[in-house]
Amino acid sequence: MSTILITGGTGYIGSHVAKELITAGHKVILFDTNEMGHAEVLTYLPGAQLVVGDIADSDLIIKTVKENSVTAVIHLAAYTLVGESVEDPAKYYLNNTAKAVQFLEVIRSTGIDKLIFSSTAAVYGEPQYSPIDEQHPFSPTNPYGQTKLIFEKILQDYERAYGLRSISLRFFCAAGADPDGDLGEDQTPETHLIPLTIFTALGYRPSLTVHGTDYPTPDGTAVRDFIHVNDLARAHVLALNALENGAKSTAYNLGTGKGYSVREIIETTQKITNSQFKVVDSTRRPGDPVQLVASSDRIQRELGWEPKYSDLETIIRTAYTWFSTHPKGYSGNSK
Ligand SMILES: NC(=O)c1ccc[n+]([C@@H]2O[C@H](COP(=O)([O-])OP(=O)(O)OC[C@H]3O[C@@H](n4cnc5c(N)ncnc54)[C@H](O)[C@@H]3O)[C@@H](O)[C@H]2O)c1
Repeated sequence: MSTILITGGTGYIGSHVAKELITAGHKVILFDTNEMGHAEVLTYLPGAQLVVGDIADSDLIIKTVKENSVTAVIHLAAYTLVGESVEDPAKYYLNNTAKAVQFLEVIRSTGIDKLIFSSTAAVYGEPQYSPIDEQHPFSPTNPYGQTKLIFEKILQDYERAYGLRSISLRFFCAAGADPDGDLGEDQTPETHLIPLTIFTALGYRPSLTVHGTDYPTPDGTAVRDFIHVNDLARAHVLALNALENGAKSTAYNLGTGKGYSVREIIETTQKITNSQFKVVDSTRRPGDPVQLVASSDRIQRELGWEPKYSDLETIIRTAYTWFSTHPKGYSGNSK
């Protein structure tokens, strides 16, 4: 059994990753400020420990790593809102890059040589072809994507110079909730399409706005590749196994290879929730790519990963179960 430090561990993806690691027999330590995460996730993570702190708190990181004999790190802590990163890039470069490099340096000083990093489809920017594979050129269109790309490049240098091996997982759109019903998404502000669609179906919002109805897609709305959060979580376990077995640093896309349009999401949600909610068509948002679909062939081939929960119905059904049983999230005062 190895002990894994998960930064951002009380967040949406971090909590699901923690559960998957525990199921796979690892000990996990969640490290999070809880600014965006929720301490309540611990209830559903048997044996997990929570350390509340900032990744920039070097003394606390060293203490946590030493006291628990941590052998690998999963680094998910970050700010994640694309629009906010355009309005306030300093906040993003400071947290996702500057603090992250300081954190990486502290991790290196403790002798840890394995790290998994949550990167994003945003490193690619506007797609030049589809589906997007790992060879696709990088051209982030916002500071959020830049921060992730910079950190990926730093990780490459860290392997070359110091032997710290890492796997960057470039998530496309994470969605869905733990099929057991224990964990789910509780983000404020909520900006993701599937939660917003379900909130509208549940009557938490009066209507759903569709941004852009004149894209060159079959129904005119933007197309995205949604991946169930449990499939993402399993990829972390496989990536960790690979590093433990000596894999070299690399990066993998994580999506399903199938895109769904905004209208398809709305129609499927209306069917599953049996609700005909109000939909308002609006103009495109600047910087929103027409279509983002991943080729995940490499991770399937090299790590044996395959999506199990990422069909659209399962994604929406599990998310709907979570949101309808947790109308106010974990703590009862969000949303
Ligand atoms: N949700 C998606 O669709 C998606 C897609 C691509 C990449 N990602 C990446 O996955 C990771 C997790 O995303 P999420 O959706 O779970 O977001 P989230 O906001 O739920 O989780 C991020 C967690 O990091 C914590 N955090 C932020 N800064 C910190 C700091 N300095 N020190 C300690 N903790 C800190 C927050 O409190 C939060 O709990 C992020 O790195 C994000 O960029 C997410």
